Amino acid sequence: MSTAHYALHGSIATLSLDNPPVNGLGHALRSAIVDGLQRAALDPQVHAVILIGSHKAFCGGADIREFNTPKASLAPTLRDVNVAQDEFQKPLVAAIGGFALGGGLELALACHYRVALRGAQLGLPEVKLGIIPGSGGTQRLPRLIPLADAVQMMVSGNPARAKQAKAWGLVDELVEGDLLQAALAYARTLVAQGRGPRRVRDLPVRFDGDAQAFVAELRLNVRQRWRGYPAPLEIAACAEAALFRPFDEARQFERSRFEVLVNSAESKALRHAFFAERQTSKIPDLADDTPVRDIRRAAVIGAGLMGSGIAMCFANAGIPVTLIDTKKEALERGLENIRKNYAASVSRNRLTEPQMNERMQAISSALDLGAAGEADVVVEAVYERMDLKQDIFRLLDRIAKPGAILATNTSTLDVDAIAAVTGRPQDVLGMHFFSPANVMRLLEVVRGERTGKDVLASAMKLGKALGKLPVVARVCDGFIGNRMLEQYVRQSLFLLDEGATPQQVDQALQAWGFAMGPFAMYDMAGNDIGREIRQRRAKERPELRYSALAERICERGRFGQKSGKGWHRYEPGSRAPLPDPEVDALLAAHRAALGVTPRTIGDAEIVERCLLALVNEGAQILDEGVALRASDIDMVYLAGYGFPPYRGGPMFYADNRGLKDILESLHRYADGYEGAFWQPAPLLERLAGEGGSFGAFRRAVNT
Ligand SMILES: NC(=O)c1ccc[n+]([C@@H]2O[C@H](COP(=O)([O-])OP(=O)(O)OC[C@H]3O[C@@H](n4cnc5c(N)ncnc54)[C@H](O)[C@@H]3O)[C@@H](O)[C@H]2O)c1
Repeated sequence: MSTAHYALHGSIATLSLDNPPVNGLGHALRSAIVDGLQRAALDPQVHAVILIGSHKAFCGGADIREFNTPKASLAPTLRDVNVAQDEFQKPLVAAIGGFALGGGLELALACHYRVALRGAQLGLPEVKLGIIPGSGGTQRLPRLIPLADAVQMMVSGNPARAKQAKAWGLVDELVEGDLLQAALAYARTLVAQGRGPRRVRDLPVRFDGDAQAFVAELRLNVRQRWRGYPAPLEIAACAEAALFRPFDEARQFERSRFEVLVNSAESKALRHAFFAERQTSKIPDLADDTPVRDIRRAAVIGAGLMGSGIAMCFANAGIPVTLIDTKKEALERGLENIRKNYAASVSRNRLTEPQMNERMQAISSALDLGAAGEADVVVEAVYERMDLKQDIFRLLDRIAKPGAILATNTSTLDVDAIAAVTGRPQDVLGMHFFSPANVMRLLEVVRGERTGKDVLASAMKLGKALGKLPVVARVCDGFIGNRMLEQYVRQSLFLLDEGATPQQVDQALQAWGFAMGPFAMYDMAGNDIGREIRQRRAKERPELRYSALAERICERGRFGQKSGKGWHRYEPGSRAPLPDPEVDALLAAHRAALGVTPRTIGDAEIVERCLLALVNEGAQILDEGVALRASDIDMVYLAGYGFPPYRGGPMFYADNRGLKDILESLHRYADGYEGAFWQPAPLLERLAGEGGSFGAFRRAVNT
């Protein structure tokens, strides 16, 4: 049962928050705090009160178990608690260990004094869920720390360390050792010095200068930096309110903006993503206590683009790794690229020189596959050829130590066929990193037919240890992300056939929120890669039609950024895509050859068609069980494909619009250009007919 335990230590009363795991501010805890304050107020023996959590957690904010339940808004709310704190007539001290986040920091801000353990973190991360602090945080924080820093803290959502908090004045004293004893000593000193309650609401906002100009500039910056996100702009509005309105009025303004944001589409999408991320690690047929294998050493085979990035991931996580390539020059180039990459991080102050040296030392190299014999996990990242990969796995079967996890980074090949050449298919799975591997968060963990449960659990755990977001996929060509991307690519090309330009398609999708337009993305990845895929498709699935435009671009050597021209043109040394009349001429000739009279296609149609291409394939992937759940597909797109977080992912987008509406759009497009593309996935048809949603869909056998 969650509560706040009341105890007396001489003249000091303590209220110990007790609602594991993070002391979430559920109704019972809120009530217990108010009750405790009343009791202390009435006891003449008590001269000061300490609000304390554990060493690991002061308070993590709202109790997520109460989300969307009536209890969340049942009195006393956090606002009521804050009023009780403000009105409390004896010094009230927050003793912060671990973290004080969101409502947890608002609770601490409404105390009169704050002490914190050195390692503690204090933050208002609400913006990450598309909302703002709703219980006075936007008004109290800038009364304790400079307004510009307060705004920065709230707009980024990133917590501050206790040391920084002390330097700002957010924390009155940094303490070490036993938090309770240190807080008691602090409170006794307050009492001895005769210092009374100090209401933060009565302090002036910490700002000097031209308030109007500050707010105007802030709005401008936030608009540019956080396009599409309404919450940061509301934080700017609350900063303005702090400057120009009395506390209570500004507090009410904050609350009204909070209410608007909670109901916004963007916040719903961001909250969806928050929960979706936590869902990814839940694998229905994998018990929580599935044993995991110990991973102390890694080997990466292939020192190319991916292999060198993957080796960095291990080194960054403190796992010694051997990078292996049979070609000396390739190995040297790989190591050199790693060195350059780290050096760039040092020059940007993201890494210190000793850290760089430590990481370089964690990476050893070898020309012989035998060096993989010591590793607990081997990641193969050689050329995308089945014969080559199978040869390597045959060899690994002989040399890898028993129990080693054998992973392939293949993007498209059949992981089961790779596993089948070994005598230990239970140890084999796919670990599909994304480029650049040391940067991209997404990791598709590809579960083969015979992958052992402990191996799957180990790979998921390892992925997290590498700082990745692991998402489980079943074996199929392209897994989740690239399989959907292929349909997006096909549709983007059909749009050009019909009359759109690469600039228009890119701009439309970027304006909708994608990190990058598709054609700029193809130019970055290299158009020759797409050509290889199409050539393979022509043999495997001749019915899958591609616009011949992609071929026309490659024939002219327009491979993308690496050749200075692709769908766009690039100035030497620049990655900025520029329009190219040669491409316009090529498009015109191509359309003439097709007999297509170009038409003007609106941005809304461009966006919708590209999204529906993703959604329809996503539905198929869900139906086949390639993804465990729709929200996993969303996470793949959010973490790996630059899908705008405030839109929640393609499946969330579809559910939000309603699947009936989505299906109607598919039917409408089926009457247009390349109509065969729009054959609805059976699951989409079924769910639309039943009034169902992707989010609620679960396969009967979900293994
Ligand atoms: N490039 C991407 O964006 C990307 C993304 C995800 C996955 N992948 C997959 O990762 C793998 C590698 O792709 P890449 O882009 O890094 O290729 P790459 O061409 O940059 O590197 C491949 C490396 O493998 C080495 N190699 C070849 N045969 C070898 C052998 N027998 N033993 C040891 N090393 C050998 C080569 O010398 C080369 O250095 C492929 O399976 C690819 O599909 C690529």
